[in-house]
Amino acid sequence: MYSLSELKRLVEDALPHIVPEHWVVETHLARAMEYSLHAGGKRLRPMLVLAATAAVGGDVARALPAACAIECVHTYSLIHDDLPAMDDDDLRRGVLTNHKVFGEAMAILAGDALLTHAFYVLATMPDVPDGVIVQLVRLLSTYGGASGMVGGQALDVGGCAPTIDALDAMHQRKTGDLIVCALLMGGCIGGASDAQRDALERCGRAMGLAFQIQDDILDVIGDTATLGKRVHSDIANGKRTYATIAGIEQAQETVRTLTDGIAALINKEAFAHPDVLLQIAHVLLHRTH
Ligand code: IPE
Ligand code: IPE
Ligand code: MG
Ligand code: MG
Ligand code: MG
Repeated sequence: MYSLSELKRLVEDALPHIVPEHWVVETHLARAMEYSLHAGGKRLRPMLVLAATAAVGGDVARALPAACAIECVHTYSLIHDDLPAMDDDDLRRGVLTNHKVFGEAMAILAGDALLTHAFYVLATMPDVPDGVIVQLVRLLSTYGGASGMVGGQALDVGGCAPTIDALDAMHQRKTGDLIVCALLMGGCIGGASDAQRDALERCGRAMGLAFQIQDDILDVIGDTATLGKRVHSDIANGKRTYATIAGIEQAQETVRTLTDGIAALINKEAFAHPDVLLQIAHVLLHRTH
């Protein structure tokens, strides 16, 4: 069985090789893509893909390209999220944001290229039946797209009503959907049963919401050096968040309740190897970045 750090290492080792060596990519574009992709990050979504594959007793190595694909989509979403037209941030993953280094036009293109490349990586997955690849493409395009992450970002940009229900709906889409997607992709590759698939989806829903609430909390009480991104970005952008609507303590309590629910869900389902999934839920509860 793999440990959490081993899963992360697998992802870090695979990411530099996802663009075929013989491809001719314009130098600035290649640099801009690599800059954000290799700047670090927790690699949560790819680890969830691998952890879900492991949980249902599948072959983790076979799931690795799908893990890289979702990290490409996530990284593109961060590059675009930081743009002046969106959150206008200058620090990400401990370094200057992509547009601060490469300019807005190249940052937009780097995001476009990473998004597109995710689907190349899925389409060329070795040792995975075509039918499974089609399901992975369907999952990533649905949860990452207009009805999922991008739709959630649109709600955020439009300004969210100051209610917990409205926040939940936005968080589920802008952050929760890629997290659900990661678990479903991993389950799909590992051959999850219908019951396991449902448990992974419910687990992802709770984890996604808890993750964004914690992100909102850290925007208020976190520290820039640890986070690798500026604190008080939400306040500067006039964003209403869990931290401002419910208050820090209530928000923290919600994260704890959601995490307990995740552990209960994972423990209840007959997963072959639930350990890493449980560890991820625990790490997220205590995360400071
Ligand atoms: C940041 O995601 C954007 C949100 C959805 C809150 P992460 O906190 O996972 O960012 P990285 O990948 O570790 O940089
Ligand atoms: C972004 O949410 C979610 C994405 C889909 C990228 P935030 O705007 O709160 O993420 P950070 O705080 O900039 O990482
Ligand atoms: Mg944002
Ligand atoms: Mg942001
Ligand atoms: Mg945030």
